[in-house]
Amino acid sequence: MVLPFGCQMNRSDTERIRTVLNSMGLEESESEDDPDLAIKGIIACSIRQKAVDRVYGKIRNWNSSKWKPLTFLSGCFLPADGEKFEALFDFVFPIDLASKLPEMIRERTGDDFTNSISLPSGEFADSDVMEKRIESFWQLQPAYSSGSEAFIPIQNGCNRFCTFCAVPYTRSREVSRLPAGILAELRYLVGKDYRSFTLLGQNVNSYGHDRKDSKLNFAALMKSIGKIGRETGKDFWTYFTSPHPRDMNGALFDVIAEYDVLAKQIHLPLQSGDDEVLSRMNRNYSVADYQQVVHEIRGTLPGATLFTDIIVGFCGETDAQFERTLEAMREIQFDMAYIAKYSPRPGAASAGWADDVSREVKEQRFAKAGEVLREIASRKKREMLASKQKVLLCGRNEQKGYFSGYTEGRVPVRLALDAVNAKSAEKNVENRSRVGEFTTARITSTGSLSVEGRML
Ligand code: 5AD
Ligand code: SF4
Repeated sequence: MVLPFGCQMNRSDTERIRTVLNSMGLEESESEDDPDLAIKGIIACSIRQKAVDRVYGKIRNWNSSKWKPLTFLSGCFLPADGEKFEALFDFVFPIDLASKLPEMIRERTGDDFTNSISLPSGEFADSDVMEKRIESFWQLQPAYSSGSEAFIPIQNGCNRFCTFCAVPYTRSREVSRLPAGILAELRYLVGKDYRSFTLLGQNVNSYGHDRKDSKLNFAALMKSIGKIGRETGKDFWTYFTSPHPRDMNGALFDVIAEYDVLAKQIHLPLQSGDDEVLSRMNRNYSVADYQQVVHEIRGTLPGATLFTDIIVGFCGETDAQFERTLEAMREIQFDMAYIAKYSPRPGAASAGWADDVSREVKEQRFAKAGEVLREIASRKKREMLASKQKVLLCGRNEQKGYFSGYTEGRVPVRLALDAVNAKSAEKNVENRSRVGEFTTARITSTGSLSVEGRML
């Protein structure tokens, strides 16, 4: 049993770890409490303290249970947490050494499971070693958790050092995956009729900058994917997350506009609507720079939806500065925003600064930003009313009576089962098998973050 504890990258890492466990003849158990469990693992996430605390909670619980399978921890964790985890887990290893897990377990068999084995994190310092290791990790064939949607890692690490963020310390510097591996994985999945891909990296649009090949860049990678779409004639949507506004350029939008298989949805983290806060966050752009990028997106991709990330209550954020974030949200008109209350992450630069916005004020700002988001987003959703939309069906909830899916712009859509179910059992089976397919729907009602429709 292996539990992902975080973001999409974390879930993608988990799919590759599953392959390693499967290759040892282990099958995933449905339940954590299964007494036959041989090994339990966590793929950690350090983006918020809450996720780190969950790891501590879980391992204490596992360690105090009567039967004690082997436990391991990998994923995204700070060196300081790693040391503490070593005392609690049997194995603690960086994600790019996952393929060594069988060896580690073999070495350990027969042991009393009380001392932990960990791999020298000092190797992180050598970029060549790291590059080789992460490439071999990427070469593992993932045990995909869906038959129609897949995450494809294209990069690991980050060179940007935003002051609030722990990623450059948990995942180290940027390493771009070689395009041959990315395109081979994508081609394989396209051949299996996958419908949705999300290219993953911490700073995807700086893809290729760490490689010597000057022709390697994110727009070129996207173009190659566009060409695969044309060559194969298959219908799919390709997303990416997350880019950095500073590394955006018009060439990428031209490529997205050119190919149908490149989805018209952009997730572009803003973080704050105030220049002074942005500067202290070391984001390296002003609100005006960000708006210029949005202007280019809307010029080249007029139908594209725009998603963002916002942090409220960053160190020293005043009421007036927070108001400017709300103003920017209103001006830019996001379709979706992932809003987070600032929490200091040990290791990140801002962890040494006063976390001086009180919890109550963070809560208030969080609620207010959510309100503004819903206000803007519901107006945008209303524009979809009565329109015809192509929808990817990704789940079915029989109890609650609906299919769930999303549009190319990643707007969640609920489609009532009643409207699509003929009464016969035969039709029912037919509808069940439609998960993972595209359908066309008429939008019948809209909310703030999702819409409802009827299948046509
Ligand atoms: N506190 C709150 N939010 C954070 N994020 C990253 N670090 C922190 C932090 N210390 C948010 C950012 C980023 C998203 C993935 O998580 O908005 O874009
Ligand atoms: Fe963290 Fe900034 Fe890198 Fe994103 S760009 S992973 S927020 S350091």
